[in-house]
Amino acid sequence: MSILLATDFEPNELADWRRMLEETLPDERFVTEHREAGIDIALVANPPPGALRDLPGLRLIQSMWAGVDKLLADTTVPPEVPLARMVDPAMSAAMAETALWAVLGLHRGYFDYARQQQAREWRVLPQRRADEVHVVVLGLGAMGAACARQLAALGYRVSGWATRAAAVDGVAAHTGEAALSTLLHEADIVLNLLPLTAATRGLFDSERFTGMKRSASLVNLARGAHVVEADLIAALDRGLLQRAVLDVFATEPLPAEHPLWAHPKVTVLPHAAAQTDLRSATRVAVDNVRALRAGRPVAHLVDRGKGY
Ligand code: GLV
Repeated sequence: MSILLATDFEPNELADWRRMLEETLPDERFVTEHREAGIDIALVANPPPGALRDLPGLRLIQSMWAGVDKLLADTTVPPEVPLARMVDPAMSAAMAETALWAVLGLHRGYFDYARQQQAREWRVLPQRRADEVHVVVLGLGAMGAACARQLAALGYRVSGWATRAAAVDGVAAHTGEAALSTLLHEADIVLNLLPLTAATRGLFDSERFTGMKRSASLVNLARGAHVVEADLIAALDRGLLQRAVLDVFATEPLPAEHPLWAHPKVTVLPHAAAQTDLRSATRVAVDNVRALRAGRPVAHLVDRGKGY
């Protein structure tokens, strides 16, 4: 049996990863050509559409990415084959670091100070205590929970919202549409870490922005399609929202002519908030390969009905 590596990696990165896998699983055969016979597992990282087509022996698709929205949208990915998403503590830690940076930057005015520096403007902005800042974390999966926990540890007032009830120490967790509207109305900072599903696509539109505090900011570290970008720009321009910190966009890379690049109230990151760490993610994937070979349950399987 063979394991297919279907990725958009550069040749050097792919070669390094293949070496790492071969050292860890010396009895397995790794292939990069989809036409090879006997493929029963696919390890995928942003694979080109169609990469998993016509593989009759496929028994497991292991994503090296946390979000599986693109895989689920690819109609050539066989819907009956179990699909596991990447749940890696190193990735959650990286995401929490980015979330802390963004929340601290917004709370302590560092994004404004960066602009002031460009203008050589010496002006001290008001200072609030962390417990006066209400951070609402949307999505309490592995990454959202890690962010919420660390923000709470820094003293922020943290509320969480998720489609399923979830408990996180020090965080008031909520579910349901009514709670979402109330929380968005009360939030000083909204941190989005929801999975992209049919229910969450376009969640942030002009109606949501109208329901938020004028002093509120949005941090989107999940998927670009959660936000209607034209509505976000209009909300920022109209002063309905203070600032946006965005790691993800409807089109990536963000096109050079896109208005978000130069918007004075927007900070752009190049989808870098929590990159897959191939050393730790490979350990997670290898555990699943070993589980499948041994007939044990595979971890972190996606519920295709829910979309994550
Ligand atoms: C990155 O966005 C991922 O889903 O891992």
